[in-house]
Amino acid sequence: MSDIARILISEEEIERATERIAAEIDRDYKDADGRIVLVCVLKGSIVFMGDLMKKVTVPVEIECVRVSSYGSGTTSGGNIDLILDVDRPDIRDCHLIVVEDIIDSGNTLTFLVKHLLNKGAKSVRTVTLLDKPSRRKVEFKTDYVGFEIPDEFVIGYGLDYDEKYRALPYIGVLDPSVYS
Ligand code: IMP
Ligand code: MG
Repeated sequence: MSDIARILISEEEIERATERIAAEIDRDYKDADGRIVLVCVLKGSIVFMGDLMKKVTVPVEIECVRVSSYGSGTTSGGNIDLILDVDRPDIRDCHLIVVEDIIDSGNTLTFLVKHLLNKGAKSVRTVTLLDKPSRRKVEFKTDYVGFEIPDEFVIGYGLDYDEKYRALPYIGVLDPSVYS
């Protein structure tokens, strides 16, 4: 617990936000023509994806993508590589909803949305549990947001620092002494 400066968002708050987002997705996709596919951005979104997909009631399918952006420690770089792609022949029949843990510079989601539209998806929307609007380097507006948070490095509920802390059930602020 000593590496964690404070709890920013509790388990209960995350659950309520996830329920709200699931209801918004149900409302927006109930008459969708085609398949509805939640796309998990590995690895950070695993926990949020698992909880969100259980709360959505419209029938959804799932896919995973993985990107690597070169950066170190607590900053992500702008050069993005796709390590795992959505690979399905029926993509033109799919409404994709990209599920992210956090949007920071905006580079990852900008890249992914463009890539998935280029592949021929019927539509692409984005959902993020956390949004750090003050850190944006490219303009990007997500369709569904859990929480706007200040510019602090957070961990838990899937988010890591050096691959650690992903299994925590809440979102915590990492003590800056851990990375400075
Ligand atoms: P973006 O491309 O700069 O928007 O970065 C998004 C990615 O950066 C996220 O998917 C995370 O992997 C990582 N990231 C950004 N801020 C944080 C944070 O506070 N904690 C953990 N990971 C973060
Ligand atoms: Mg991530």
